[in-house]
Amino acid sequence: MSVNILAIESSCDDTSCAVIRDGLLRSNVIAGQKVHEAYGGVVPELASRAHQQNIVPVVSEALRQAGIAKEELNAIAYTRGPGLLGSLLVGTSFAKGMAIGLDIPLIDVNHLHAHVLSQFIRETPDDEVPCFPYLCLLVSGGNSQIVLVRSASDMEILGQTIDDAAGEAFDKCAKVMGLPYPGGPHIDRLAAEGNPDRFLFSKPRIPGLDYSFSGLKTSFLYTVRDGLKENPDFIEENLSDLCASLQKTIVDILLNKLKKAIKETGVKEVAIGGGVSANSGVRDGVKALCERLKIKAWIPERRFTTDNAAMVATAGYFKYLKKEFGRLDNPPFARVSL
Ligand code: KG4
Repeated sequence: MSVNILAIESSCDDTSCAVIRDGLLRSNVIAGQKVHEAYGGVVPELASRAHQQNIVPVVSEALRQAGIAKEELNAIAYTRGPGLLGSLLVGTSFAKGMAIGLDIPLIDVNHLHAHVLSQFIRETPDDEVPCFPYLCLLVSGGNSQIVLVRSASDMEILGQTIDDAAGEAFDKCAKVMGLPYPGGPHIDRLAAEGNPDRFLFSKPRIPGLDYSFSGLKTSFLYTVRDGLKENPDFIEENLSDLCASLQKTIVDILLNKLKKAIKETGVKEVAIGGGVSANSGVRDGVKALCERLKIKAWIPERRFTTDNAAMVATAGYFKYLKKEFGRLDNPPFARVSL
């Protein structure tokens, strides 16, 4: 008999629902929230309200696209955290209500596990997946981590940011240049036409495998401030070069530690995940590094890099197979590690 799992993701500002059958993705519906654009960042209370508006149509559409009736579901997976508490409460409560109504088990999923396991999203039985152990560079708006993935449930953080995440560095520098939120994709687009060697920004010198992006952010701010003193049109006249140089610096910082981690662990496969793994410089850089080191690179499809329920369903399926079910009195967690 087939195993059908419906998964809900509502940790930040995307309401998403996915359905998988026997580990293969049948649907993945995502409703974004335009309401935050005017504020230059996600407004938690508005996000919770938008999730309330979106969740019923998103879940109905995911079931419709999957061609699976709710009575055929075997479990409900949901993101328990980390994320914005109000947003998580919407998905958590909905998942619990659905599990009670259908009298089926509930599976709580760590959002970061789901990002790491996004390489296991399969649409056909022929889709390949990584072999354990592998390293995952998890880079998003809230995290920059190098994770050793020994199995779907055994992950170790080898290094992580001690201040800002890579996505924050992109977004905060984008704000300095007057680009809309989130700035990462805009910088990526503009960098394609710029000279990456035009500006030099400072890189952190911290030991081990940890990251730091706050010094780069300050160095970027000072370059722009000094440039504007000389020329009020400094940003407009140098926009693509600023973006290209910033992106190159962020990619160099990320790859430097990743290379070190590959050497220290001796892994033969590397994956990337999280919103910043959509970045062209990060994708090309990781591919080139792995080619040089003759190891396998797993670069996700862009639609699976940002928040989506397909990855929650996939992580939930691993737990379903081990019968690791959640409890109805489990609260969501705003903060939780891998
Ligand atoms: O994983 P994610 O969707 O959620 C959070 O952790 O919040 O990541 C969002 C982050 C934002 O900082 C956004 O600017 C960044 O991912 N991002 C990118 C690109 N696409 C999204 N950064 C650089 N280049 C991109 N193409």
